[in-house]
Amino acid sequence: MRVGQERPCTKSEPPLTLVSEAASHPLPFPFMPKAQDKPLWIVRRSSIHQRGVFAACDIPKDRPIIEYVGEKITKKESTRRGLALEEKAKKTGGAAVYIFTLNARYDLDGATAANPARLINHSCDPNCESFIIRGHIWIYSLREIKAGEELSFNYGFDLETWEDHPCRCGEPCCVGYILDKQYWPKLRGILKARAKRQGKIKELENKLSDLKKTLTPKAPKKPKPVA
Ligand SMILES: C[S@@+](CC[C@H](N)C(=O)[O-])C[C@H]1O[C@@H](n2cnc3c(N)ncnc32)[C@H](O)[C@@H]1O
Ligand SMILES: [Zn+2]
Repeated sequence: MRVGQERPCTKSEPPLTLVSEAASHPLPFPFMPKAQDKPLWIVRRSSIHQRGVFAACDIPKDRPIIEYVGEKITKKESTRRGLALEEKAKKTGGAAVYIFTLNARYDLDGATAANPARLINHSCDPNCESFIIRGHIWIYSLREIKAGEELSFNYGFDLETWEDHPCRCGEPCCVGYILDKQYWPKLRGILKARAKRQGKIKELENKLSDLKKTLTPKAPKKPKPVA
């Protein structure tokens, strides 16, 4: 991941590959999905983070739910925006970035009110996934979703900046950080080694404090005043 750029995950195969290999692809149909007459989603407050997107009705598996729209920008412009947002984050303590990788040359900056899909939060056990279909990014249901459930996908962040992105998805399998699943075993190793180190430090601190107690001479008891 480039500096300062939070990049939700995408299936970045060229769209033509997706279409020509549709038979073996998990998507039920290889043609462009269309926006639904009646949106399948609704924006509400989320327990994960600020606002989120929720299912407005029961949604079956493999259903195109919402298109992730935005401004198509070059990688150079994407890096510039990422760095500017990083500067902003340093000053304000946070800055949401909505840039999706589109292909090897372009990214999509979804930071526009016209893109409610930008409000979909990350989950370690997501119910949605993003696919690029002929240059368009669509959010699909990974499984059947019940009305009222929050929509989520795995942002697919890499290991470089894991500590900057604690995860609050609340799922039993939550790894604690917003991270692509392929890095989970590595992160678990890092966290285990860190916990072990911290345990050792605590043990040494306790030993030192016990030692100090045995070395410090006890103050003589004050004689009780005679009445
Ligand atoms: C693309 S925005 C998602 C919409 C966001 N909830 C909002 O109201 O603007 C991404 C930001 O949401 C937050 N976020 C999303 N998923 C999260 C999660 N599982 N745990 C913690 N924060 C999360 C992070 O601050 C992240 O930078
Ligand atoms: Zn999580």
